[in-house]
Amino acid sequence: MLEKICTLTDLTPLVGVPALVQGEQVAIFRLKDGNVYAVSNYDPFSQANVIARGITGNLKGYDVVASPIYKQHFDLKTGLCLEDETVSLKTYQVTVDGDNVLIAHH
Ligand code: FES
Repeated sequence: MLEKICTLTDLTPLVGVPALVQGEQVAIFRLKDGNVYAVSNYDPFSQANVIARGITGNLKGYDVVASPIYKQHFDLKTGLCLEDETVSLKTYQVTVDGDNVLIAHH
């Protein structure tokens, strides 16, 4: 099922927005190229819901967000931590339909 989370105009490029999807905290990012990503807002390293406050960028060809606490980088597409491949963020499939941003959930 797809759930409308926000509109594209709600998303300032590069600035994460926290949202609640089916009781789960999700961090949504719109990058400069227009790609929209949604990953868990929960940082497994600092054990806090802070990923939406992270800085986005590109590292080794990956679109990443850096944890604002300990600065680990997570691939926004796969959720994988670039510094520790045993750790990853849950990712959510994002669909952009016109101005609407929808997230698939289970
Ligand atoms: S309740 Fe949304 S996909 Fe199952």
